[in-house]
Amino acid sequence: MKTDLPQSFHRLAYRPPVYTFDQVELDIALDPARTIVKSRIEVIPSKSFEPGAPLELVGHELEFVSLRINGQAHRHFELTPETLTIHSLPNEGREKFVVEMICICVPEKNTTLMGLYVSNGNFFTQCEAEGFRKITYFLDRPDVMARYTVTLRAREEECPVLLSNGNLLSAEKLPNGWHSATWVDPFPKPSYLFALVAGKLKCIEETITISSGAKKLLQIWVEPHDLKKTRHAMDSLIASIHWDEKRFGLELDLERFMIVAVSDFNMGAMENKGLNIFNTKFVFAQPETATDADFANIESVVAHEYFHNWTGNRVTCQDWFQLSLKEGLTVFRDQEFSADQMGSESGRAVKRIEDVRLLRQLQFPEDAGPMAHPIRPDEYQEINNFYTVTVYEKGSEIVRMYQTLLGKDGFRKGMDLYFQRHDGQAVTCDDFLAAMADANGKDLNEFKNWYSQAGTPRVHVQEHYDAVKKQYQLTLTQSCVPSPGQPEKKPFYIPLKIRLLTRSNDQSEQLLELTQVTQTWTFDNIPDRPVLSINRNFSAPINLDFEQSEADLLALFSSDDDAFNRWEAGQKLAMQMILNNRLPDAELIEAYRNLLLDPELDPAFKELALTLPADSYLYEQCASVDPQQIFNARRAFRREIAKQLQLEWAALYQQMQTPGPFKSDGVDAGKRALKNLALSMLLDAAPSIWAPMAANQYHIADNMTDRYAALSALVVHGAKAAKDCLIDFHNRFANDALVIDKWFGLQASRPPVDGLESTLVEVRKLREHPAFKLNNPNRVRSVIHSFCANNPASFHQADGSGYEFWADSVLALDPINPQVAARLARALDRWRLFAQPYQDRMKVALERVSTYQTLSSDVREVIGKALGN
Ligand code: TRP
Ligand code: ZN
Repeated sequence: MKTDLPQSFHRLAYRPPVYTFDQVELDIALDPARTIVKSRIEVIPSKSFEPGAPLELVGHELEFVSLRINGQAHRHFELTPETLTIHSLPNEGREKFVVEMICICVPEKNTTLMGLYVSNGNFFTQCEAEGFRKITYFLDRPDVMARYTVTLRAREEECPVLLSNGNLLSAEKLPNGWHSATWVDPFPKPSYLFALVAGKLKCIEETITISSGAKKLLQIWVEPHDLKKTRHAMDSLIASIHWDEKRFGLELDLERFMIVAVSDFNMGAMENKGLNIFNTKFVFAQPETATDADFANIESVVAHEYFHNWTGNRVTCQDWFQLSLKEGLTVFRDQEFSADQMGSESGRAVKRIEDVRLLRQLQFPEDAGPMAHPIRPDEYQEINNFYTVTVYEKGSEIVRMYQTLLGKDGFRKGMDLYFQRHDGQAVTCDDFLAAMADANGKDLNEFKNWYSQAGTPRVHVQEHYDAVKKQYQLTLTQSCVPSPGQPEKKPFYIPLKIRLLTRSNDQSEQLLELTQVTQTWTFDNIPDRPVLSINRNFSAPINLDFEQSEADLLALFSSDDDAFNRWEAGQKLAMQMILNNRLPDAELIEAYRNLLLDPELDPAFKELALTLPADSYLYEQCASVDPQQIFNARRAFRREIAKQLQLEWAALYQQMQTPGPFKSDGVDAGKRALKNLALSMLLDAAPSIWAPMAANQYHIADNMTDRYAALSALVVHGAKAAKDCLIDFHNRFANDALVIDKWFGLQASRPPVDGLESTLVEVRKLREHPAFKLNNPNRVRSVIHSFCANNPASFHQADGSGYEFWADSVLALDPINPQVAARLARALDRWRLFAQPYQDRMKVALERVSTYQTLSSDVREVIGKALGN
């Protein structure tokens, strides 16, 4: 029977488990068509137990075979499609009893990539958040932590390698060509951290010695032909291990740590205890096939998953509403790690700018749209929909604010207390806040609103300078527009780093704590009217409502000592002009020129400073979006920068060459970034003159960054050479799936070009390409997502054709992989922000999808919330 109202889960409905698990033994006989899972679970009553309570397990798409309790066949149970409820427990459940079960699943038919599935003939699992229930009936919730012993069996010829969490206890040959391996994980863990991998894989390995003197075995498992692509991931892992010891005193707690790469994966990677499973995209890197961005992403994802070993695994979440407890904190840790790896203060600033840019392009729109939720949501229909930029990236900003308020040492004290109190436990965001507050003797009660309220706060800035009294007054007023279910907001606790920039340069940086709706600060002995530099280094995730004059913004852009705010001033100037349909004036061009010529500045910073705000960020500044108008205004603005500075771009293109052997470090990567921006600017200024240089760079490049950037410049500018280079690129890399993803992605994200066929027509062709596969998430993202989410000017067509393509794609994907379909479904989240005819056309597409009776709960939630049901 189908109910019309979707089921919701509520944070406040949390109840501790009635029973919990002690030892769990799994015996899994792997067969793609029929995997037999035998489980033996020691069940014990928990604190909230009451005699006679049934044991309620969950399962999903399992074939149930048998149930025994304390060695006896047991018949007192009820089976529904999602539950197994066991009654008449020995001694009414008062003491430990043993449940033994057999069930069967079909990995080769599993296209959802949750639970146990097959990819390229090998077996993998993905259990977070609720995939374990597709392997056996279980208490599949993060607050049930058990010790696992896992025996894997398989035919040795098909599966020579058998991996699971923890340490290898034994391996055996079995009759009929089968073999087995038994793994023991010494640490209690929730089921979402369970993993197994089996198949024809090989590893690179390294033994390292950590500070305590202990030796650790590190392995990266891949298909044999990919072994040569794993060096960078291994280096990143080693650096992560050392960093976590040094910065947080956190040691690797297992003798062995394994990473496995798989080409079919819903997300980036997964932190299963001792056996991280990664999307190949975040493991494989060689200069010829991976860009500088790929190298940096691999470093940060490897670090992220490794850091989860403490923030997520040793201390885990009580329930899924607390997801940001592990994700926000772990993103913060990986951001800090990557910043430290940059090796210089300016490198840190570059990393900060990149992180904030991502937050504003993706999270700010989410926080203003129909799926807006606090970093600790109160309600969800499908937990998979809550692995969001809000939980991750805004969550990281909330953690960063503790460090801003408490200082680096205070933050470390809070972390130490958090682990001292909660190691081995499943806890809440409140517990984290309490550890930070208690370790520092600071009242952080008002800080809680960051966890409970959605929406990006807006801070209005009003300043007054009294030249006679030499006094400066700053009044800050905060507000936050309603979000779903939250009509009114309480004030946020907002740490704002400021500096008053005066001619005498005598004012140092200060931290203001805005905790009320309005507060005024008075500064005495300010000799001349200062230029305010506020929210330095983006100390709080807010929008500023500050009418700063163009002259002040230009001053900040030229000389603010806070690199982030220097960048920010440039973004704001450009944004205001683009939104007013203006071209850059002579003063701004001059400021750009000076910045480009400044020998003191990092090339990577210059590249960021000359890159204009993304369309999606510009949309958020408008009451009603005309996407074509914004695209054209931005393009005209950019073309003007390209033309006016053509000489400088040409000179930079030469100066930023990186001769000699390829290095993937931040310094060379920064030079390549600026050089390739110069190349793209040159093609923007005069395509016919500069296209041959791009084609030449394409052909002679010894690394993917340069080859891809040249190809991209040719494609984006509709140069004649683009066609041949695209063919060449495909032929060169036909056997490398991740590079072919780039080939698809580049074509699908090409903006409209005069005289070329519309990108939608091209994308429809790409979907028919023999190498396109709807069941591979990377390929889907490279074609469909690139078009629907990263190509606004091609996607938003007045006739609604882009939206029809979107609807068709969501509907085609949903039966195969609801998680990936639901992510794509979110491309129309902000439909209400658009002007006509776009808005109505989007609504029609949303409504068409919503009428399908068989939608997954994932897609139903996204579409339902978009339409406001
Ligand atoms: N915990 C993982 C991470 O952030 C996220 C993740 C990986 C995930 N695969 C998933 C979440 C599948 C949901 C479904 O590192
Ligand atoms: Zn994570």
